[in-house]
Amino acid sequence: MITVDKLHKRYGDVIAVNDVSFSVSPGEIVGFLGPNGAGKSTTMRMISGFITPTSGTVEVMGHNVQTAPTAAKRCIGYLPEGAPAYAEMTTKRFLHFVAEARGMSPANARSATDAVTEQLNLQSIFTRPIENLSKGFKRRVGLAAALIDDPKVLILDEPTDGLDPNQKHEVRQLISGVATDKIVIISTHILEEVEAVCSRALFISKGRVVADDTPTALVKRSKFHNALRIETDHVDQSLVKALQSLPSVQQVIPEGGALVLLPSDSATIQTEVQKFAAGRGLAWTNIHTMSGKLEDVFRSLTESEEAA
Ligand SMILES: Nc1ncnc2c1ncn2[C@@H]1O[C@H](COP(=O)(O)OP(=O)(O)O)[C@@H](O)[C@H]1O
Ligand SMILES: [Mg+2]
Repeated sequence: MITVDKLHKRYGDVIAVNDVSFSVSPGEIVGFLGPNGAGKSTTMRMISGFITPTSGTVEVMGHNVQTAPTAAKRCIGYLPEGAPAYAEMTTKRFLHFVAEARGMSPANARSATDAVTEQLNLQSIFTRPIENLSKGFKRRVGLAAALIDDPKVLILDEPTDGLDPNQKHEVRQLISGVATDKIVIISTHILEEVEAVCSRALFISKGRVVADDTPTALVKRSKFHNALRIETDHVDQSLVKALQSLPSVQQVIPEGGALVLLPSDSATIQTEVQKFAAGRGLAWTNIHTMSGKLEDVFRSLTESEEAA
């Protein structure tokens, strides 16, 4: 378990983290989602024991991070933002170094290095200096270092930031693959990443947690939940007006050549819109019910936070 209780971090006048509380159980992959400056990295650094909270407590697998930092850190694999590593070391040397720094004997460090090298497919770059590696490989070396002693808790700060779409996909798959028996916390400002990887999302805005739920439950809070998206070749103002006047349609929003119909009654909107088309001899090129948009939920939650 990780238990975070009333965590605060202040830098001079800046309150980076403001009264954050949550707990995480094994098997959960929690996404910290928020814009730059929201307090994601600061929270992760406090959980990992790299900086001291101004107030509040963190417990990791029963160890208080402030009073028993060594025991707590032993349970945690931490990939800092940007995945820093010693550039001039080879992959092999670096992983071995990290393993020994984690308290392993030279022999255990060697076998642990071999194990993560295989797990993350690093054989081809095993003897190359880290400074010569592509961004994707560098990030994987960082992940390997975080995983070196099979920690129960993985804390990954923006693990896919700056990678191309294929590399992002690869790193997400690696994370999902290693996550089964662990607690994983990853931060990101990419909404689709949370939907792709996480079982739970914490929206963070201005140092506070403004939502804590599954991505599926969060998406249902969207005004686009159960909206109908229709495509037709005949979009014009009169069509928009006519659709708008249907009782089950609350609002019509043009969206890139399509129309999105927000429901006032999600149970009947589909039937009514199909009937409407049939009555006019119109054919929809495409029609589907939307699950919602996480982006829209995030924006409305952070806006109400601003207004508060
Ligand atoms: N060492 C520091 N000194 C002063 N301010 C800091 C420091 N670290 C972070 N901050 C401030 O705290 C806030 C949260 O930063 P951070 O946790 O890095 O956000 P995120 O990771 O969500 O982008 C920002 O306003 C940032 O400028
Ligand atoms: Mg950050």
